[in-house]
Amino acid sequence: MTSRVATLNPKVEQVLKSFKLSREELMLVIRNMRKEMEMGLSRKGQKEASVRMLPTFVRSRPNGKEQGSFVALDLGGTNFRVLLVTFCSQTEGGMKLVNQTYSIPQEVMQGRGIQLFDHIVDCVAKFLSNQNITERLPLGFTFSFPCNQISLDQAILLNWTKGFNVPDCVGKDVVQLLREAIQRRKDLDLEVVALTNDTVGTMMSVAYQDLKCEIGLIVGTGTNACYMEQMKNIEKLDGDLGEMCINMEWGAFGQGEQYSLAKIVNEFDKLVDQQSLHPGKQIFEKMISGKFLGAIVQNVLLNLKEKGCIFQGIQTSKLKQQDIIKTKTMSQIESDSGDLLDVKSILEDLGLPCGIEDCTVVQAVCLAVSQRAAQLCGAGLAAVLERMRENRGVDHMKITVGVDGTLYKSHPHFSQILKDTVKDLAAKCEVHFHQSKDSSGVGAALVAASTRAS
Ligand code: BGC
Repeated sequence: MTSRVATLNPKVEQVLKSFKLSREELMLVIRNMRKEMEMGLSRKGQKEASVRMLPTFVRSRPNGKEQGSFVALDLGGTNFRVLLVTFCSQTEGGMKLVNQTYSIPQEVMQGRGIQLFDHIVDCVAKFLSNQNITERLPLGFTFSFPCNQISLDQAILLNWTKGFNVPDCVGKDVVQLLREAIQRRKDLDLEVVALTNDTVGTMMSVAYQDLKCEIGLIVGTGTNACYMEQMKNIEKLDGDLGEMCINMEWGAFGQGEQYSLAKIVNEFDKLVDQQSLHPGKQIFEKMISGKFLGAIVQNVLLNLKEKGCIFQGIQTSKLKQQDIIKTKTMSQIESDSGDLLDVKSILEDLGLPCGIEDCTVVQAVCLAVSQRAAQLCGAGLAAVLERMRENRGVDHMKITVGVDGTLYKSHPHFSQILKDTVKDLAAKCEVHFHQSKDSSGVGAALVAASTRAS
């Protein structure tokens, strides 16, 4: 791969350079992220902080004693999932899980609240009827958007992200919206007991198997992290005893002015931001997550086409087609480590027939964009790890990070670059990345179960 990159046209090299991050730049990302985290936790700074550091009211992790059956919902990625989770003792087989995925049409993702919540509850009703469940069950709701939680079952939606935009829900308690939708149907008997973010759900579901898991990380359609923070460090909350999981909402990092990403954001990031559903928001997320990487690549390719470096004989309008390059396509393109014939046929299938030289450029662009994404994600994680290590006053910290998201799981290099970056930037932390096998919905069920135990 290196030799191919070395022979690229200088104009292409120039563009790719704008995606290269020096170690100093990554260290700056860590410093700024840590300042934002501090601000987000403070009483005074919380309003200005772009990293909101939201209390989750999750104060402990699973202890293996969870019992009973729970319905869990998982909303926030590309699909909506309904689960039936049953926790039993290890001798009885531990956890049992049945789940079903449903799609959410774009007009529902960007329509009115009543439509969205009725659609969700409709899917739940279908699922329960398929499973022949009629008894009243407690429900845990994984809702992967920033919410101001007042308790486990009160969560005011702050704003939408990713591909969702249902304006009349903003400022409302989403648990209440779900309860009202359940009541609108006379045939459902469910008790909504807890709402969690997907990062929290992932941390909890991994912690069920690995007690060292104290961080949850998502790198999928969006990106975010949560971690266990000592109560005494959460200035904006009363009480000094014990710990609480903080949903960082790090995707919003960079949208503030004080500790920004301004030195790193390039012209292509700006274009992707302008073209997005929520311009000016979620800057860090737009440089890292699956919903946006394909669009960055597309903008770079368009620029190279305009400069005459690539795709001679292909109409520019073809390359302007929305979402022509998906992050999934990048994974496929980057998986070709041989003669690039796979890349050639992928591009042909997209209606972009070209020679091997163009394939070299396209692959180099994809590699540059995904490498930067993984490095930035690694820098964010290093900021969290170093904060936790310093708070504990230890020189060496061993910890597990529970991870979920298709970019992490399916991209050929992302997870390795992320791990290498963390190793370099948080050298005193020994990190075990534990890929979550279950949906973060299981974590919501675990949180729901914790409300029964106490
Ligand atoms: C949301 C987070 C979520 C993340 C990953 C972001 O857009 O704001 O709440 O955890 O996506 O799904």
